[in-house]
Amino acid sequence: DKAGHRHFMAKEIAEQPSRLTAALEHYLSEDGSIRLPAPGIDFAGVDRISMVACGTASYACHVAKYWFEQIAGLPVDLDVASEFRYREPPIPARTLALFVSQSGETADTLAALRYCRDKAERILSVVNVAESSIARESDLALPILAGPEIGVASTKAFSCQLLVLGLLALEAGRQRGRLDEATVRARIDDLRAVPGLVNHALSLTEDAGRIAAKLAEARDILFLGRGRMFPLALEGALKLKEISYIHAEAYASGELKHGPIALVDKTVPVIVMAPHDELFDKTVSNMQEVMARGGRVLLVTDRAGSQSAAQGVWETLVLPDVAPVWAPILYAVPAQLLAYHTAIAKGTDVDQPRNLAKSVTVE
Ligand code: F6R
Repeated sequence: DKAGHRHFMAKEIAEQPSRLTAALEHYLSEDGSIRLPAPGIDFAGVDRISMVACGTASYACHVAKYWFEQIAGLPVDLDVASEFRYREPPIPARTLALFVSQSGETADTLAALRYCRDKAERILSVVNVAESSIARESDLALPILAGPEIGVASTKAFSCQLLVLGLLALEAGRQRGRLDEATVRARIDDLRAVPGLVNHALSLTEDAGRIAAKLAEARDILFLGRGRMFPLALEGALKLKEISYIHAEAYASGELKHGPIALVDKTVPVIVMAPHDELFDKTVSNMQEVMARGGRVLLVTDRAGSQSAAQGVWETLVLPDVAPVWAPILYAVPAQLLAYHTAIAKGTDVDQPRNLAKSVTVE
């Protein structure tokens, strides 16, 4: 049931405010503290986290790596499951192994989990399907409560994965004494504002549709982001290529001059994901390098960002202000909308893109 939407993907994008709210309610207790199912997680008893996932779920982990390291001071290793499982990585004592999967059935992720079984301190998973193999074989499985996701391109699962991982990073920061109670509360308050901001961001659908009609003519598109926005660039590129079949690549902004800038000319749109945060000026200088070479920049930013850096850009998408730490959840929306509308403009099969399956249960 598409609930009046043209595609499951559109419905699932639109559901994000309510699914995020449901996940927040599930993981926050009345007094506003973070509530994890028994036996909980002892973050003071681990020295590092090893995260493993595939595709979009791996980009959620990539964002979470920034969060765990910055908020909780916990080092994070991150790998895609198909590489991790065959590399025979040593797993040091006191490692928390964390697997993220919407379906809970992805073959490589499950095999990676089994590899960690007798090696890691604890096996934790973050899943959408609560009765899945990955959930069953974990010491603790945390549901993301996104509800069934039918569209092959993951949307609401990504934002709900981010929300749960964000809460875990806060809880880790609290347990490890890196955050005092007042700071935890303030970050939770910021997080509570996110579903409403996501709702606002959905109103960008018209702008995204207009810009997408132009993106649909491109053969190649570059996405750039810095810091916690780098994984969002990766996610934006993946979403675009899987449903519109346009070649898209993402780079960390600072990598631009180490190679990919050679690709830039006026035929290559460059989508820059950059809220006005502590790294904004750095990203803007990369953006100016693109414009100096004739590149057409679509700047995805907030009001302050668009006021300070709109000059010379091709297009802007302006999002509401959000606490910088949680910006990746909000900026998932324009990434999704741009991919969706570009696919519509190209007339591709949005919900069932060619060659792809919703759940990859073979390696
Ligand atoms: C992209 C997408 C895939 C999945 C990946 C992992 O939109 O949906 O990249 O994220 O196949 O699937 P799960 O999360 O079920 O393990």
